[in-house]
Amino acid sequence: MNSMNLNNDVITDWQPQHELLFGHHAIRLRHRLAESGLFTREALGRLIERCPKHELGLESMCVETDRPDRMFGELGDATGMQAIDAIERGRMWMNVRRVMDWAPEYRKLLDSVFAEFEARVPGLKTFKHNIGVLISSPNAKVFYHADIQGQSLWQISGVKRVYVYPRSDVFLKPRNIEKILLRETTEDMPYQGWFDDYATTFDLHPGEMLTWPLYAPHRVQNHDCLNISVTMEHWTDDIWRSYAVHYGNGVMRRTLGVQKPSTRHDGLSVYAKAASALLWKKLGRQTTGDVVKRRNFRIDANSPNGLSLIAAS
Ligand SMILES: [Fe+2]
Repeated sequence: MNSMNLNNDVITDWQPQHELLFGHHAIRLRHRLAESGLFTREALGRLIERCPKHELGLESMCVETDRPDRMFGELGDATGMQAIDAIERGRMWMNVRRVMDWAPEYRKLLDSVFAEFEARVPGLKTFKHNIGVLISSPNAKVFYHADIQGQSLWQISGVKRVYVYPRSDVFLKPRNIEKILLRETTEDMPYQGWFDDYATTFDLHPGEMLTWPLYAPHRVQNHDCLNISVTMEHWTDDIWRSYAVHYGNGVMRRTLGVQKPSTRHDGLSVYAKAASALLWKKLGRQTTGDVVKRRNFRIDANSPNGLSLIAAS
């Protein structure tokens, strides 16, 4: 079977209260993505082979510190299945990005998922949908951070622990949201061990998905097993207005020295701030994305840790 039966909802345990909670609280729901047949190892192996090189993110993690060591990899001559096997026994992280742009059957699935959410949540209108696949090694971590758009995480295989922190200035200062939006930092956000006392934790199992409020900081820790997860992103008018306000505030802090700009996103000031956001973009002062200039390793099916280093030229 290659496509989801659209007569059957992808979320199987939706309750009336979820329409109130969606987007405002972390909620865990059960899903049937696996029944689409698009996320078996074989299907994902083929997907990896189809993935344009610039959309295939591959990083290795430092064994001693668990931190990403900013070593970037490539598939090389490996098959997609070999890559998944290599990640299963190595210390790596693969991000198959923007799948809907180059694999139409996944776009169809993505659109049907958001059509379902829009049918379930009155007034919800989403756009700029994005779907990616994350394949990560046992015990891999994603460090404390927040995202600029609506996010959900769908578990396919393996188990991961997700820590979701309260959406407040204590856990993520507006200044740091601005930094993310202005793309001034690719670093982790400031994190203290005691934050965990205030986190809600979820052990996400296959067939479960998690969504959380905009800008809620989170971090992820794989259990000791290969993890295959799907990420979906979306925007709404509210998310866009919030983006414009924080973005505009970031510009105001930087150009006008305003220290405590408002983060309300109603009223006329939104338009002023959105205008300054556009202006800032026009000025071209944003740093560019994560363009990888050099690949440090490639997948190696015969290597014990699944990779071999590429000699510097
Ligand atoms: Fe995230």
